[in-house]
Amino acid sequence: MHFRIVCAMFASLRTARARCNLDLVTNPSLIKFIETISAKLDEGAIVDDPELISPFTTDWTQRVKGNSDLLVRPKDHQGVVDVVKAAIQCRVKLQIQGGNTSLSGGSVPQAGEVLLSLSRLNSRCEVDPDTLMAKVDAGVTLERLQREAMKYHLMPGVDLASRGSATIGGMAATNAGGLHVLRYGSMRSSVVSLRCVWGDGTESPRNIPLAKDNSGISFSPLVVGSEGTLAVITELSLRLVPVSASRAVAVVPFMWIPEAVSFAGKVRRMTDSISAIEMISKRAIRVVEESKGVIFPIKDPFEIVLLLEIASNGNASNELTEILDGSLDESQSQSTLLGMDGGTLAGLWFWRESITEAIQRRGEPLKLDLSVPIAALGELWQSIDTIQKGLAGRLEVVRFGHLGDGNIHVNLLGAEDILKRAEVEIYQLVAGLDGSITAEHGIGTLKKEFLQLVRTERELARMRELIEIFNPGRTLNPNVLL
Ligand code: MLT
Ligand code: ZN
Repeated sequence: MHFRIVCAMFASLRTARARCNLDLVTNPSLIKFIETISAKLDEGAIVDDPELISPFTTDWTQRVKGNSDLLVRPKDHQGVVDVVKAAIQCRVKLQIQGGNTSLSGGSVPQAGEVLLSLSRLNSRCEVDPDTLMAKVDAGVTLERLQREAMKYHLMPGVDLASRGSATIGGMAATNAGGLHVLRYGSMRSSVVSLRCVWGDGTESPRNIPLAKDNSGISFSPLVVGSEGTLAVITELSLRLVPVSASRAVAVVPFMWIPEAVSFAGKVRRMTDSISAIEMISKRAIRVVEESKGVIFPIKDPFEIVLLLEIASNGNASNELTEILDGSLDESQSQSTLLGMDGGTLAGLWFWRESITEAIQRRGEPLKLDLSVPIAALGELWQSIDTIQKGLAGRLEVVRFGHLGDGNIHVNLLGAEDILKRAEVEIYQLVAGLDGSITAEHGIGTLKKEFLQLVRTERELARMRELIEIFNPGRTLNPNVLL
């Protein structure tokens, strides 16, 4: 793809101005900002072509559409420092973006912020096999890190279906979770240290990966999960974990969520080799069947299935069989599917990993990402059924998620007013169950108005104070989080 570029030379800048749309031409702050950074960034780092910017201003679900007149894509840490300093000086706001895979509108500019994309900041992706750590630039994709780590039989603990596009910086900024949180935790457990540029233009010290460091308050964990409201992450050190020698998967049918919850508890007490307990509702299975033209091998009746994965250095297949023998009744055992080798394993994960895309083909879903104490999952499920019934066939609900973490993705499809009604009711329900309105996708821009349901006034005030300390005037991500 050919990028139209604003060059460093003043003559080219004039050309760039001529090419810009009316807002840009008449916005003196933005023009000053371009002049300030043009001399500092490489050719190709500044893009003003609306056609080229457009994919960066719409989110993955196509639901959130923002606007921006300018995209900047620095290639290194210093470039990010220059951009943030220039933005402060020229009073320009920045929207940070990694792989633009946010599912909560957190990566899209809402009010003409300049897009600061980290996608070109991706030279460094080094794995140290002696310390089991990786040092990576923020724009490196998860898939690339997985490839590098695999050379040493290692992997990052966090894995996501969007691994081909999701960047490590974005994953850290949103404290991404994914498929194996049960075993390895979310990004906060993986990040050892990071380098960043704070919203006041100052830099954090070098990224030094000390496995242990108790020299006072640590700032990295604060940045992780702050959704770019404090700093731009430029480089990270991550813990890696060994790839298990063998894996085995079972897909087990259940009639009712509480049965699945007690099965999950039972198998977790039996072994420490479980690497995933994922949940797929019957509706989600039907959506994948329809979208992919395939038939699910387990016959009715069932309401949900659990995908249970064992990853161990012993014989995962034997371990899985023993676990299932000790925990399933006769009829469940007969309909359980087993994946014991590469092909059958992938065949079972297919049902889980195809859901998001399959839902997307049906329309633009409103994606809720809920967590409640695991004991309350049954009540949550039933109450959502009641809400759906109350809307008399006007709401489609597709549920799946990470049962082992008490995290259910509830995807709503229907007319916009119906979605809004259901959303409010479901969030109120979750708050009443002491749950969270987002377990892993983050608040972004879509859930801001509901944050007060699950955080106290005082907590929100403290968050605002923190943002004001590190990102005064909210140069970074002014419309994200709160
Ligand atoms: C997943 O668990 O697959 C992701 O969170 C994506 C989604 O919720 O659609
Ligand atoms: Zn998820």
